[in-house]
Amino acid sequence: MDRRDFLSTAGVAAATSIAAATSLSAKADALEHAMMDELDRRVVEPSMFCDIGEEPASYGGDKRPFLQGDDPRLPKMPAQPTLIDFFKLRFAPANHVLQSAAYAQKNGMEEKVILACLLHDIAVGSFIRTDHGYWGAQLIEPYVDEEVSWAIRYHQALRFFPDESVGYEYPEAYYRFFGRDYQPEPYIVEAAEYAQKHKWYMTARLITINDLYAFEPDVQVSVDQFTDIIGRHFRQPQEGLGFDGSPVAHMWRSMIWPNNFL
Ligand SMILES: [Fe+2]
Ligand SMILES: [Fe+2]
Repeated sequence: MDRRDFLSTAGVAAATSIAAATSLSAKADALEHAMMDELDRRVVEPSMFCDIGEEPASYGGDKRPFLQGDDPRLPKMPAQPTLIDFFKLRFAPANHVLQSAAYAQKNGMEEKVILACLLHDIAVGSFIRTDHGYWGAQLIEPYVDEEVSWAIRYHQALRFFPDESVGYEYPEAYYRFFGRDYQPEPYIVEAAEYAQKHKWYMTARLITINDLYAFEPDVQVSVDQFTDIIGRHFRQPQEGLGFDGSPVAHMWRSMIWPNNFL
């Protein structure tokens, strides 16, 4: 459902609740709720990861069938989706990884590092935020060289640890995000120590060096800029991501149909 089409036909109650919202994000939430009410299926909003610690979802008096299959609020995916289709239709916002990859390219990095920068945070926002380096590495493992997925897995830990010998400082933004007294969990400390001694340490470290912590919303980078690098270094399955029977196919399907009831 296109938001503009919806707004032009929205009922008085929906329009009033959107108008009454006092902030932009509250307006976006009100619009989303009004659009859901217009669907002929019930959509149970997924939480960031799972329902632990939350009240069980209340299904109330709504007797419509639950949503299974294409969510009309999302762009329809092709039957055999490619990585670029995911960038264009699902990864949102992709600007951070696109900017990081463009920065790595400008810095003259080799192609596998540019690819690693392009894919390093695809789990954030599109899949699962917590432990995003591990999830992100797993998503791409069957399709890239082991060094690329390894680097993405360990950028998760290494971004918390400065390495002045290569000019990587603790990100200023993390003081704001996590507080000055934040200490990473022991498993992160152990992973960083392991990675620092590994032969591929610099590949993971280069992800953190080219990671743009200061997001630049005005710089727009298109994934098309990386078509050749993706073609050379990402083994796109013929059946499409999500349908190749790989151990991670279900993870890609979950991004195609993120709001299925089950
Ligand atoms: Fe990251
Ligand atoms: Fe990042």
